[in-house]
Amino acid sequence: MTDLYAVIGHPVAHSLSPRIHAEFAAATGQALRYDAIDAERFAPAAERFFAAGGRGLNVTVPFKADAWGWVDERDAAAGSGAVNTIVVRGNRTRGCNTDGLGLARDLTANLGWPVAGARTLVIGAGGAVRGIVAALLNAGAADLTIANRTRAKAEALGRTFGVAACGLDEVEDAWDLVLNGTSAGLAGEGALVSPAAVAGARCYDLLYARRGATPFCRWAAASGAKAVRDGLGMLVEQAAEAFCLWRKVRPDTADVLAALLREQRLPCG
Ligand code: ATR
Repeated sequence: MTDLYAVIGHPVAHSLSPRIHAEFAAATGQALRYDAIDAERFAPAAERFFAAGGRGLNVTVPFKADAWGWVDERDAAAGSGAVNTIVVRGNRTRGCNTDGLGLARDLTANLGWPVAGARTLVIGAGGAVRGIVAALLNAGAADLTIANRTRAKAEALGRTFGVAACGLDEVEDAWDLVLNGTSAGLAGEGALVSPAAVAGARCYDLLYARRGATPFCRWAAASGAKAVRDGLGMLVEQAAEAFCLWRKVRPDTADVLAALLREQRLPCG
């Protein structure tokens, strides 16, 4: 039987993961099937998937915290409370998080943006941010500060990771690297902090656009950012990390990412 993998989320119909993993599988000569599961609730759908012989799951919005609670064991990267990849080991499920590694690889290997020593502001304090702070710290981010609309959530996460925290209206100026981990872009909002905070900074949106630029990238570029980029590269790199965990083969990401970036820059429609 062909090994079965899937991404589970809600909604999940527009996920790029099935396409990315199919391309990885073709390029590495691995025989596997990768589906998308749209679920109302995480646990029953995950149980059905593994009972039917599923070998591994990617987990996306809104189930990363549910997955963390559901797995039998977790790797260190999942320690912060978000699981995006589940691996089967014998009769146990292991929850991993490849988002942080994927982000770090996109920033450093693909974009050549320095993280070591970069004064780094992270906007948002939800599940997306939980998954990336440790990787940024490991990569040497300096003065890392978490800013969030609800200040108490930033402070709680700041305590978890031992970093500074503040509200959106208290953000200082002059950062080297600014990452948007909020979901505000889904509602079309890009202006989250004062323009002076992003002027001269390299700005990265964890959200990505299928076509064109995200609201945060548009706003940051208009506010004088040194460079802007959305999370398409992180998506491809976290997928490659997951593929490697499952298949013990590291796929090359360059061709898949280049194709997605070409499509992104096509006019809407
Ligand atoms: P996710 O798992 O995608 O991170 P989440 O846990 O619901 O989703 O977190 C969403 C994040 O986006 C939060 O930091 C949220 O701020 P609050 O904690 O104050 O709710 C942030 N967010 C969502 N919409 C926003 C907006 N319009 N302006 C600023 N922050 C916003």
